[in-house]
Amino acid sequence: MSQHTAANTLACLDRGHGPVVLLVHGFPLDHRMWEHQIDALAANHRVLAPDLCGFGDSNLPDGKVSMDCYAKALDALLTAKGVKEPVHLAGFSMGGYVALAFLRLFASRVGSLMLIDTKAAGDSEEAAQGRAKLAQKVLAEGSSVAAEAMVPKMFSDATLKDHDQATLVSQVRQMMEEQDPAAVAAALDAMAHRPDSTPCLAKIRIPTLVIVGEHDVITPPAEMKKVAGEIAGSKVVTIKGAGHLTTMEQPVAVNKAMKDFLGGK
Ligand code: MLT
Repeated sequence: MSQHTAANTLACLDRGHGPVVLLVHGFPLDHRMWEHQIDALAANHRVLAPDLCGFGDSNLPDGKVSMDCYAKALDALLTAKGVKEPVHLAGFSMGGYVALAFLRLFASRVGSLMLIDTKAAGDSEEAAQGRAKLAQKVLAEGSSVAAEAMVPKMFSDATLKDHDQATLVSQVRQMMEEQDPAAVAAALDAMAHRPDSTPCLAKIRIPTLVIVGEHDVITPPAEMKKVAGEIAGSKVVTIKGAGHLTTMEQPVAVNKAMKDFLGGK
């Protein structure tokens, strides 16, 4: 973890040399959800895998957070890292919501986009209310409550039932349980209040890859295909045998999709 240093900005793993790939994690996780992609991509790229505000080793700022607030912290991180050229931006789930906010705010910083198990639409009122209730419980009882709610939805049924995958499932549960409850509650609030990014999709003019797990119940393939349908020239890769957390559940297939997409970029 020597490269994973918390400076004034976000804590960020920084590995490899070449064009920058910025990996934005999901909820309630941190940069470790990209562990299989970091080494695979760092062979030809400089990989930046930050912890979003309050997650992992990053500090939670005072006051409310929002997708724009996460995006602004990523912009400050790129500045602190001396990155001037457009980056290849990959966002997983909540990280995809952040990626779309980043693209809206800092379009010139993005050269290509990878949207992984995410969506563009905002929350329904019912979903937003569910998040508010969960946030209250997390603040009262700790992040294990969020882990309890999320773990069953992160993987395919086959993975959840497979004894050989028990280590993976408990690794993810532990990562969730380790997150600061205040950061988890703040992210729930930020997701509940995020804007609908659907109108932004038709304006995307950069190469875009959409990756989705075949059995994703949080951001299902049909939803992701709708997202791709709005983005001119985008490509969809469906990951067989995976649920939501494709990057950890089927890393070989995800790495191949990302590397094929990045190609000589
Ligand atoms: C995530 O994986 O980041 C979350 O499932 C996103 C969400 O709850 O909308």
